[in-house]
Amino acid sequence: MLDIKKSDIEKIKNAGHVVFFSGAGMSQESGIATFRGKDGIWNKFKPEELANINGFMKNPDMVWEWYKYRHDIVRNAEPNQGHIAIAEFQKYLPKVTVITQNIDNLHKRAGSKNIFELHGNIERNYCMKCKTFYNEINEIPEVPKCRCGGLIRPDVVWFGEYLPQDQFQGAELAASNCDIFFVVGTSAVVYPAASLIYTAKDCGAIIFEINIEKTDISILARESFIGKAGNLLPMILKEIKE
Ligand code: OAD
Repeated sequence: MLDIKKSDIEKIKNAGHVVFFSGAGMSQESGIATFRGKDGIWNKFKPEELANINGFMKNPDMVWEWYKYRHDIVRNAEPNQGHIAIAEFQKYLPKVTVITQNIDNLHKRAGSKNIFELHGNIERNYCMKCKTFYNEINEIPEVPKCRCGGLIRPDVVWFGEYLPQDQFQGAELAASNCDIFFVVGTSAVVYPAASLIYTAKDCGAIIFEINIEKTDISILARESFIGKAGNLLPMILKEIKE
């Protein structure tokens, strides 16, 4: 059940700009594993081997194969009711921005338009030497080489790497000039992405959280709605439409 105050529904309805900031929990109901917790990816695999430039240079084929495996999962997944609801909010509110830590492209596939991808996108790859981008090559079983001879890597952010500056700057601007900032399905422990929640709060946005449990940032939120994103987001959308 959704326990949201009528006054908060009115605030969302009257907002000029609403941001949805999403993490792995957003795609959990699409069958994509989250990172932390009992069944989390980082409980089974080592980030220092698979999400790190040194791990890639040591064993590029293994890292490539792991991303190929994850790419297959993502390609076979479908946007869930939560992604679809966020895309539908665009029809009812003047401005909606999606900021995501996910690399799975599901917000875009659901129809969201204004998206900042903070940690890259698993559909894209690029040459480490000449920076040429390559799409549609994830099916190749071993790490491919560019025409220039450089190694091709997935266009995702690994530990110790900077976020894509255009994406982070756009996200910071959105966080600092929105009225409502929804934090959906993230443990909010990875920085600088999680700093955007503080930016939004400091700039006066109302924070709502949607998660199956409380997190470190629940204290910043006006309300933490406990439940699955795929259930709660369509319920909030329904209230907005009425
Ligand atoms: P986490 O795995 O750290 O957190 C997922 C969050 O989603 C947890 O707080 C869960 O309680 C919540 N959750 C799970 N299922 C849910 C559901 N159906 N509905 C709502 N909430 C649900 O994932 P992130 O916070 O996204 O970075 O992790 C941040 C970054 O750490 C990732 O982008 C990735 C990872 O290392 C990189 O790879 C650079």
